[in-house]
Amino acid sequence: MHKNKTVYLCSECGADSPKWQGQCPGCGAWNTLAESVAEAESASRRRFQSLAPAAKAQPLAEIEAHEAARISTGIREFDRPLGGGLVAGGVALIGGDPGIGKSTLLLQAMTKLSERVSALYISGEESGEQVALRARRLGIAASRLKLLTEINLEKILALLKSERPEVAVVDSIQTLWSEQLNSAPGSVAQVRECAAQLTRLAKQLAIAIILVGHVTKEGALAGPRVLEHIVDTVLYFEGDAHSSFRLIRAVKNRFGAVNELGVFAMTETGLKSVDNPSALFLSRHERDVPGAAILVTQEGARPLLVEIQALVDDAHGNPRRLTVGLDAQRLAMLLAVLHRHAGIACFDQDVFINAVGGMRIIEPAADLAVALAIVSSLKNRALPDKLIVFGEVGLAGEIRPAPRGQERLKEAAKLGFTRAIVPTANLPRRPIPGIDVTGVARIGEAAAHVEELRRGAK
Ligand code: TYD
Ligand code: MG
Repeated sequence: MHKNKTVYLCSECGADSPKWQGQCPGCGAWNTLAESVAEAESASRRRFQSLAPAAKAQPLAEIEAHEAARISTGIREFDRPLGGGLVAGGVALIGGDPGIGKSTLLLQAMTKLSERVSALYISGEESGEQVALRARRLGIAASRLKLLTEINLEKILALLKSERPEVAVVDSIQTLWSEQLNSAPGSVAQVRECAAQLTRLAKQLAIAIILVGHVTKEGALAGPRVLEHIVDTVLYFEGDAHSSFRLIRAVKNRFGAVNELGVFAMTETGLKSVDNPSALFLSRHERDVPGAAILVTQEGARPLLVEIQALVDDAHGNPRRLTVGLDAQRLAMLLAVLHRHAGIACFDQDVFINAVGGMRIIEPAADLAVALAIVSSLKNRALPDKLIVFGEVGLAGEIRPAPRGQERLKEAAKLGFTRAIVPTANLPRRPIPGIDVTGVARIGEAAAHVEELRRGAK
């Protein structure tokens, strides 16, 4: 096959250079040149063309908009982060650590899909036997799913064109390589080129494609950030290696809401949807222990109760601040707010924070629970029994409301919690049966109210 010449494009300014250089000749940035195909004029124009079909400009109101038809994967907790299912012509990227269950879930989903639509599984990582073995283990060996083991992009594109499946999986994008480029599979140039080509074909032939992506040590999808821009949906597989729970979170979705969460349990026979996940992330203590606060977090459409644990202990040398499942920067900020606005000092203390069950919490409404867990551990006094907390803490020590407070409170009441400390603005208009809700406006108030509750309980 005729090989196109390669050029090196700067990821910052787009300048090109015939050979690799450490510094971009255009903008002077370092280490930004990456290999790319120098195509004929028409082809290079195609590269920068939008992936949407060409259309005349027309008034927005006149464009007929249909809700994209959803192809359900047959797995409810997978459909949820996808926004209801796959979309014809839509490309989803699913990232996660090795061994977390990406291939398992996709094999399960594709098997279910193959009962209704034509489905093709392209595996670049495992041999046909390995995939068949896994299918047998999952008890889904007799499926109509088609399998292709291939890593050559051109051959894959040709097969997609001739087979015309409705749904295809590429496991994984890092194993593919295009003949157009000299660089190794998994390199930035290859990953970008392969993803772009596959996406273009998906739009052309209205195939729903799911790409599997590896995650680097830093937790980002390996390969360029542009991968996330190319595709329509980005999902992350999360979970603690030591627990059987797995979460799928949507971080980008052109066809639906983000931050929807799918919850699974890894079992002997593959991933199973978890029906009622709200109480999964609570550890069952015999008695109340200092340093534990129960947070109601809202993940997409569902409230989840998560136990936040804090350990505050005398520091020897530089005090350490460590978080698992929560933002470390946010912890530093909360410690400063606690000191400044509530007079609670931890500067000579190590502070460790953990979200139970491998949960990762990104919403700021976790602040108040983290703060109260820290105070509880520092004073070595457990928080009152059956108490839940949520609310964002601002730099001025104010407690800001969290979205969908009512739903959070109702879920907590349903699970048997009887007390809540929440932002004043989240106070329910009508009392919620079974739960006694207190509104707080400042961080100091929250700490004081905990003390009151404790004294009242004695
Ligand atoms: P896998 O889907 O291969 O992960 P990925 O594709 O994300 O790298 O997951 C493999 C892990 O899942 C492996 O450690 C074993 C476990 N597993 C089960 O616990 N039960 C099962 O039924 C299967 C198929 C795998
Ligand atoms: Mg795999």
